[in-house]
Amino acid sequence: MSLLTELQKVKSEEDVKDAYIKALGLKSYTKGLVDIQTEEIWFEAKDAATSPVLMFAQLLFYVRDARKKGEHIPPFLAVIDSEKAAIMETAKALPIMADKAIKWPKSASQVDKQIAAQVAPYIETHFVVYKIESHEKEFISAVKTAIKNGKLVRTPITPDNLRQVFDKWVEMIGREIEGVSETDYALLFFADIMHDGVKAAMADLPARLGYYDDKPTFLLNGKTYELASDRGYRNFWAIYHRPPEQEYRHYLLERRDSLLPLDERSFKGAFYTPLHIVDKAYDLLAETLGKNWQQNYIVWDMCCGVGNLEVKHSNHRNIFMSTLDQADIDVMTASHTCVAATKFQYDYLNDDVVVAQDRTGQDRTGQDRTGQDRTIIHRHRLFPHQQNAAGIATGDC
Ligand SMILES: C[S@@+](CC[C@H](N)C(=O)[O-])C[C@H]1O[C@@H](n2cnc3c(N)ncnc32)[C@H](O)[C@@H]1O
Repeated sequence: MSLLTELQKVKSEEDVKDAYIKALGLKSYTKGLVDIQTEEIWFEAKDAATSPVLMFAQLLFYVRDARKKGEHIPPFLAVIDSEKAAIMETAKALPIMADKAIKWPKSASQVDKQIAAQVAPYIETHFVVYKIESHEKEFISAVKTAIKNGKLVRTPITPDNLRQVFDKWVEMIGREIEGVSETDYALLFFADIMHDGVKAAMADLPARLGYYDDKPTFLLNGKTYELASDRGYRNFWAIYHRPPEQEYRHYLLERRDSLLPLDERSFKGAFYTPLHIVDKAYDLLAETLGKNWQQNYIVWDMCCGVGNLEVKHSNHRNIFMSTLDQADIDVMTASHTCVAATKFQYDYLNDDVVVAQDRTGQDRTGQDRTGQDRTIIHRHRLFPHQQNAAGIATGDC
């Protein structure tokens, strides 16, 4: 049973502690004045939702006490309640102990909001909050890694968690960006993740991220977008590591189509072909057209999206790729997809076909190849709601 499900059933602080102990697989622990105590991490628990700063301030009461007595203090501190959890490195909080203005009371239960307000500036930027509803897995992994490796490690962004990370990004960051259309979230998301917080890790992306007065600002199509609040932004980037590993970057960018809002995806038919199906199609083409078909045929994919069908082709100079959204072309340029292919924005339902012929009739050396009669044209099946200006919606070509 997940931690979230367990937490939905808790009736007391004891139940909250037990739910976390089970989910984190804690073995050697004690329960006492410090709610849960292990060698590596101490926990302060509450049954109802409570301010993390107040809980940390109460936990720091015990840290201060242990330090005075020369006792062991753990490298990590965590606070947990029925909705969320937070973790930080103990070392980051130690400067508080030298602050004479803080009048620590006689017991932890007397640590109140006033002391929490004095503690807040020292720790606020050092702890990471995880809402269990959306970040249970990340919290559990952060605690387990902290115990194992002695340091807090952020969750990497990989092909396996791209969709989940994107959905959480929309919730914590995207919705805070003022005046932006939902269909542009994916472009801003890529600008954000392909950045190390100081500089872009990938050039020429359609959207860009910059920091003005230390606040994240996005630039897309000549417009700047700011966040209504950067709280979610800071917390998001405390949980995840960016940029993704070099080996994944191009692959992640090529998955832009999978991040479009569902209604837009079904309108445009933007569902990419799984790579094992692409392999099968290449086998069938070789069987039908001969093993040198990639040399002998020109291919024009009229609905290339971000180039999923072409990445397996080994002769990109023979490929023409067009698609509806310029952003898809920009993504391919940034991710160096099929560099030698000719790529352009083109609406095969509504754009003038003569223009397309002009564009595709010439190869990149300027030679006219319209005389070459061996051309494969790929266009996806039209969806019933898609039709051209004349109201024509036909089947495959
Ligand atoms: C089903 S996806 C295929 C993407 C890629 N070829 C693949 O198989 O993975 C269809 C693509 O066609 C594009 N598209 C839809 N209507 C179009 C139109 N009228 N003209 C050009 N491209 C269009 C969509 O934006 C989408 O990227």
